[in-house]
Amino acid sequence: MNKHLIAPSMLSADFTNLQREIEMVNQSEADWFHLDIMDGHFVPNITFGMPIVKQMKKHAQKPFDVHLMIENPEKYIGEFVDAGADILVVHAEACTHLHRTIQQIKELGVKAGVSLNPHSPITLIENVLLDVDLVLIMSVNPGFGGQYFIPQTLRKLEQLSALKQAYQANFLTEIDGGVTLDNAQTLINHGVDVLVAGSTVFKSENPTKTISLLKGVTKTSEG
Ligand code: DX5
Ligand code: ZN
Repeated sequence: MNKHLIAPSMLSADFTNLQREIEMVNQSEADWFHLDIMDGHFVPNITFGMPIVKQMKKHAQKPFDVHLMIENPEKYIGEFVDAGADILVVHAEACTHLHRTIQQIKELGVKAGVSLNPHSPITLIENVLLDVDLVLIMSVNPGFGGQYFIPQTLRKLEQLSALKQAYQANFLTEIDGGVTLDNAQTLINHGVDVLVAGSTVFKSENPTKTISLLKGVTKTSEG
């Protein structure tokens, strides 16, 4: 059984010391950088865009997992790939032609992911499960770090696992929002492959150690 991956969400990092924060992730047991791109339309918050991603790429030594919380993501795919995205995740709710957008991402040579808001049914992405490399389940309403995990997400993870098995699909399951040292174990037991963690990592006293603790969680037979 492969070990799960840890993707610290840079949204909770200290942006006035971004290079230092990137270096911390480089030196830690984290696997990816999780970058949250928000446009003030799809979500009620605005973060950063391609120029920052490009600058960060100069210092980062691990893959960029770019979570696009933007409308019309198909318009910006090429620019985010040029800026350094290794995995590009679009929201199903933001894509009228989701299948086409996923193909566009893959044609540019990067991994394609699809994300679902808490209220969206898993069936919304059933027909692309064989096309994507990653499924990102939002466990908070997207837009802000530091929110509480929505408990119904666990049921959704069970539904996703069942579909993954039924289709014999190969995607990674990523969970994003309200991930803590307390619920990490349950999430791993629910088939999660990638834990995104923002405030749990960056607001802790020792972020490197917190990453290591998240990484150290092992799958058990209990849920
Ligand atoms: C929320 C973002 C998350 C966020 C997670 O819209 O997609 O990646 O940074 O933050 P925490 O881990 O603090 O809930
Ligand atoms: Zn995110």
